[in-house]
Amino acid sequence: MNGYHCIACAESQAIDFAGFLCPDCGGNLDITYDYAAIAKDVAGGFGDDQNDLFRYAPLLPVRETDAPFPLRIGGTPLYAAARLGESLGLRNLYLKDDTVNPSASTKDRASAVVLRRAIDIGAKVVSIASTGNAGSSLACLAASLGLRAVVFVPENAPVAKLTQALSFGATVFAVRGNYDDAFDLCLAASDEFGWFNRSTGYNPFTREGKKTCAYEIWESLGGRVPDRIVVPAGDGNLLSGTWKGWRDLRAVGLVDRMPKIDCVQSEDSAAICLAVRRIRDNGESDPDWSTVVVDEVRACTAADSISVDRPRDGLAAVKGIFQSGGETVTVPDEEILAAIPEMARTTGIFAEPAAAAPWAAVKQMVRDNGIGVDELVVCIVSGSGLKDIANVQKTVGEPLIIDPTIEAIRKSKIDA
Ligand SMILES: Cc1ncc(COP(=O)(O)O)c(C=O)c1O
Ligand SMILES: [Zn+2]
Repeated sequence: MNGYHCIACAESQAIDFAGFLCPDCGGNLDITYDYAAIAKDVAGGFGDDQNDLFRYAPLLPVRETDAPFPLRIGGTPLYAAARLGESLGLRNLYLKDDTVNPSASTKDRASAVVLRRAIDIGAKVVSIASTGNAGSSLACLAASLGLRAVVFVPENAPVAKLTQALSFGATVFAVRGNYDDAFDLCLAASDEFGWFNRSTGYNPFTREGKKTCAYEIWESLGGRVPDRIVVPAGDGNLLSGTWKGWRDLRAVGLVDRMPKIDCVQSEDSAAICLAVRRIRDNGESDPDWSTVVVDEVRACTAADSISVDRPRDGLAAVKGIFQSGGETVTVPDEEILAAIPEMARTTGIFAEPAAAAPWAAVKQMVRDNGIGVDELVVCIVSGSGLKDIANVQKTVGEPLIIDPTIEAIRKSKIDA
């Protein structure tokens, strides 16, 4: 890395800048690189001597080290989902299965890069506000490194996510309030106690971890560029990271065209989609980003991971959708939940609600926006269904409870 650049006002900061937000306008910062120099290093690709995300080290803001990260983060499969695609006539549908990361969500990408940064600057305690996944991820990876994690979650976070974080030995504060309350408290507590704050979006290193998902998709496709990547958005950091990954690849000369980044949100938590639609409705082709505001909403969705009032990387996400020409897709909770068993039954991939939302969005886009049948579409499956069994259970009913007899099976009228 060679410095920072403000997403809102475009002011630059030097590499030794120690804050997280732009000192001029309070906007989020984006980490910058000397792409011309890196282009020479990666001209032939990234090499194959490592199978985790640190193989992209030339494009990551971490010091070179010979010590491998204790857990394998990233390097997740991209599956062709032929039967799922066929159900809509799509011939090139792929699922990026990030549920197989160590803590079972895509959040591990951000945690890994942030923790490497924490080690580089000598931080011992890392804090986070989370809807649940980022907290369990930080707890998991911090445990692997012997660092301490302090996690702030809303008190109604799914029990699996809380239990993961507790099992990994994190201090877990379940805050009486929502994610946004947990976020504000984590910020104040981190300032007060000097903790390194990993909170999504606010910490610019999170985007750098998430962007590796884009590099992997590009490599898994053998250097092809998808037509669109469908990304679930809460804070918008996974989306802004996905877009940054492609911008990086273009900046170092590895790709010459870009995918559309489609944003999916719940109808009941749609701050980012609404902001993009407002800009488009106003007919602005080149907005002044320093004046664009992502208005707060009152989020209330069963997809807890993307239930966010005030997206903490909202502006960067809005830019990514807008600049890539992506769609904004808002889906009702029933369609998000219905997407879970549909994906599971046709692909064998078990997603939590937020992670099934991209499939719900693809269905809506085929219906309303006319995705071409040959478009290469990638859905990011960002978290495992095991993370939120209570919501998933609503979609699949109960098992058949029977006496232990063959007769009972016959009576159940299943198709034996
Ligand atoms: C499973 C899952 N999908 C999607 C997201 C959305 O990511 P972001 O908040 O960066 O938009 C999250 C965030 O918690 C998540 O846990
Ligand atoms: Zn600024």
